Amino acid sequence: MTQTEYEQIMQQVKREPLPKRSDHEIAHLVEDLLRKMTIQDQLGQCFLTAFHGEFTYGPEFEAADVPTLVKDGMAGNLIGPYDNKVGYKMQEIAITQSPHKIPLLYANDIIHGCRIGFPINLAMSGSFDPALVERAVKVIAYETSHSGTNITFSPMLDIVRDPRWGRVVESPGEDPYLASVMAKAYVRGFQQNDLLSYDTVGTCIKHFVGYGAVEAGRDYNTVDMSERQLRNIYLPPFKAAIDEGAVALMSAFNIYDGVPITANKFLLRHLLRDEWKFDGVTISDYESTDEIINHKIAESREESAQICMKAGLDLEIISDSYVKYLKKHAEENNELKQAITDAARRVLTLKYRLGLFDNPFKNIYVNFEEKWLKEENLQVAEEMAEASIVLLKNEKILPLNNQKILFTGPFVDTNHVVGAWGGKVRNEDSVSLLDALQESNIAYSYVKGYALKEGKEDDLDALLEEAKASDVIVMTFGENQWDSGEASSKADVHLHPAQLRALKAVKTLNKPIISIVMSGRPLIINQVEELSDAVLYAWFLGTRSGTAIVNTLIGKCNPSARLPMTFPRHIGQIPLYYNAMQTGRPARDPNNYYTSKYLDVPNTPLYAFGYGLSYSSFDYSNFVLSTKELRKEQVLNVTLDITNTSKVAGHEIVQLYIEANSFSVSRPVKELKAFEKVWVEAEQTKTVTLHVSYDAFGYYNINNEFTPEQRTYHIMVGSSSDNILLTDKIQTR
Ligand code: BGC
Repeated sequence: MTQTEYEQIMQQVKREPLPKRSDHEIAHLVEDLLRKMTIQDQLGQCFLTAFHGEFTYGPEFEAADVPTLVKDGMAGNLIGPYDNKVGYKMQEIAITQSPHKIPLLYANDIIHGCRIGFPINLAMSGSFDPALVERAVKVIAYETSHSGTNITFSPMLDIVRDPRWGRVVESPGEDPYLASVMAKAYVRGFQQNDLLSYDTVGTCIKHFVGYGAVEAGRDYNTVDMSERQLRNIYLPPFKAAIDEGAVALMSAFNIYDGVPITANKFLLRHLLRDEWKFDGVTISDYESTDEIINHKIAESREESAQICMKAGLDLEIISDSYVKYLKKHAEENNELKQAITDAARRVLTLKYRLGLFDNPFKNIYVNFEEKWLKEENLQVAEEMAEASIVLLKNEKILPLNNQKILFTGPFVDTNHVVGAWGGKVRNEDSVSLLDALQESNIAYSYVKGYALKEGKEDDLDALLEEAKASDVIVMTFGENQWDSGEASSKADVHLHPAQLRALKAVKTLNKPIISIVMSGRPLIINQVEELSDAVLYAWFLGTRSGTAIVNTLIGKCNPSARLPMTFPRHIGQIPLYYNAMQTGRPARDPNNYYTSKYLDVPNTPLYAFGYGLSYSSFDYSNFVLSTKELRKEQVLNVTLDITNTSKVAGHEIVQLYIEANSFSVSRPVKELKAFEKVWVEAEQTKTVTLHVSYDAFGYYNINNEFTPEQRTYHIMVGSSSDNILLTDKIQTR
């Protein structure tokens, strides 16, 4: 097919509103189809594959066997496409040549940007701004939906507590409540409650569940936790996303209670289907059906396929054991046969819900690049990037004024600021710090000085020379954008010594130092904190990175983000998180030797969850609780005044935590239950009301029932998990 032929055909693809079908009508259509399908046809719908050399569709495409699989109805779903023309061709084969002319479903990993790069997900979570995150994700959905993709393997909803784990970069952080709020924002952003829209994509939430608890932070390592811990800490964001309408869910690589999630009947059937009534598609992770052989719960692919299908895993991705082995077993085993039909039913239903039967080319466009990098969308990326920068320290040095500023280090002249899982986002489109400085009025100079690790480019002499002639030195630190992400765990999360050497050398000049740290995870940055006058944590901010940082340095943007994960001060403290369980020997009394403490480091983190500064300062007052006794279905309204005591307008993030005074099981020392990001004009006061439902006090108790019990709770409001400013108590009845 020539390009011209392709374009002519695509011109005929109508973009009219797709027919809205009721669940009943879809069920009817799907049953009709299922009746005509053989078990092997149904298994074809339960397989998602990729082209070999999947991301470089070129001549290999013609050679690959995928077109034959599609034609034979053996592969009903594909990863990609990375090229819409290929997407068109394959879809055309599916709807004209495959046995039942069923359209393909295209899935892709669009995590924090399709072509416009948004901040890494961990950073977006730290904005504590679900409305902005939803707007950002809506842009991501817009670009994705014009790039051939029908569903995205996103959002990643793993609660994380260990910065050694490289995948913290994709996560919403350590707190179940913040993660649940973000989960809903992502699902709304991607799906806009309208799966038939041409501007939305379906979501596949992942990795269900507990993957963030891999032991020692080593990716793909084992996980062990109680059901209570799973339910209270790890499951809530998944439940929130499902309640918001997420259409698919990916099983995690790890085990839960000895059974890989991909083969875990308790989780995939009893919990998801029976308890939560989830009717979307369950999808394996990359070859995770085969991996249950490595977990030693199956001896062959033939066996693993049967175990996973019976457990309730609908769709196998990449490995092909379902299509290869299940047919013959299904003929002799009714349970398996039923499971296959149920799985195919859910996949077909999803294709109907997405409108693919009505327009299989719904997300395929010839001129899809025109939809990318639109200025109004880049503006959203800039806003999101600004809202994700955390100010960790400021000794009255920021924002910058008219001084002579030297910029130095590895993150000034680089556009490698996208972070892991960038999709089609390109470094080349990203604004480096140096690009943004050139556009600004800052009187700056730049000396590279030192790199991420020591190398040939290091020139501390040149750096010190220039530093002597400057008023302020802005130093950049961090880790490479690929040092976090899948399979990118690290045993040591310190900055490289070469960077600290540069910091100490500059410090000898006794000039103000502003440090900017870029990284996909919390790093241990004690010395940066100690030796700098100001510290900004800039994560990886994506396409508008440089602009957002410069705007923050000059005060055009007043930093407002907070830490979505605790920053340890010592590697031996890991895992360290604010919502730790109570202990029988809390380290409250310094005169008592026998408490839960270390001899060599304090228990406290360098920076706590929820911490972050702004160029404004705020006072909290007039704390009023709407009731002292909360009954079922009631809402506690907590009202307070926030006064901006500075001359700069800014955001404050008011955080409400609770602590159960007693309960039938031990609970965390603090649990975030509400927050509000409020804009307060300079020297003004705003009244804020936080709402906490009766259920928000709930916890899986001694009988594994979700209940607040009839207990006393401390209500604590503050500007971070370790800065509680107002407290009171209530009673649940
Ligand atoms: C990752 C998933 C991803 C999948 C498909 C896996 O290796 O764990 O997060 O969605 O690949 O690309």
